[in-house]
Amino acid sequence: MEGYGPETYGERIADVYDDLFHPPTSSVETVEFLARLAADGPMLELAIGTGRIALPLAAEGIEVHGIDASDAMVAKLRAKPSGSDIPVTIGDFADVEVEGRYRVIAIVFNTLWALLTQEDQARCVRNVAAHLTQDGAFVTEMYVPDPARFDRGQRVHVRNIESRRVVLETSLHDPANQRVSGQLIALEDGGGSPCTRSSSATSGRPSSTSWPSALAFGCANAGADGNANHSMPPDGASRCLSRREPERQPDT
Ligand SMILES: C[S@@+](CC[C@H](N)C(=O)[O-])C[C@H]1O[C@@H](n2cnc3c(N)ncnc32)[C@H](O)[C@@H]1O
Repeated sequence: MEGYGPETYGERIADVYDDLFHPPTSSVETVEFLARLAADGPMLELAIGTGRIALPLAAEGIEVHGIDASDAMVAKLRAKPSGSDIPVTIGDFADVEVEGRYRVIAIVFNTLWALLTQEDQARCVRNVAAHLTQDGAFVTEMYVPDPARFDRGQRVHVRNIESRRVVLETSLHDPANQRVSGQLIALEDGGGSPCTRSSSATSGRPSSTSWPSALAFGCANAGADGNANHSMPPDGASRCLSRREPERQPDT
């Protein structure tokens, strides 16, 4: 997508993000999973956004830090109760330009795929590995690709219908390059009689896509070898929480 940088998605969607993703998609299970692993923390969330996951974790007493490329998304986080207590570095999460080491570094909501090339994904994993404590873990939450979602490489899906709004998810699938480009479109009643006045808010973004096993292979190739653990949610949702732990160094 032309003119698309690390900050583009957040800058375009910040004003409507919390509204579009409310109620939060599967966030309770994700928060519980991360809280268990983070224990005493600290934890770093890559692409922290408006704090959908970070704020409930901080409320559990876990020290959470974040990185995000979008000032607008982070401004939404900071405007929330306790939001300004979470230290956030503005930048590209692939660089992981932060001080210190973390018990858990996590990237949720399929956002690792905002990095479109395997080179950038591998760079990110290498930088993550350099910021994990000895007993630390890298957690990714991704959907499991389902090519059957697409008909002739495209899909229009009704995400939700409310009395004055319908939210559509439109996407194009490029299987050869493992890319999906999508737009969320909110059609809203602009105040006149139904269906006569409407407006739309869009948040187009390209993303790469791959299987959990391919990500594990990519981690190993990036020099971040370790034990991978994938867990599928019991509700059968096509979503996978994966935990990678670095190889333990033998005691000396
Ligand atoms: C789908 S939102 C997820 C936000 C939050 N983690 C959540 O679960 O609600 C994606 C976030 O990734 C950020 N983002 C996308 N690409 C990025 C990059 N290369 N570096 C840093 N942040 C990025 C966006 O600004 C946005 O806040």
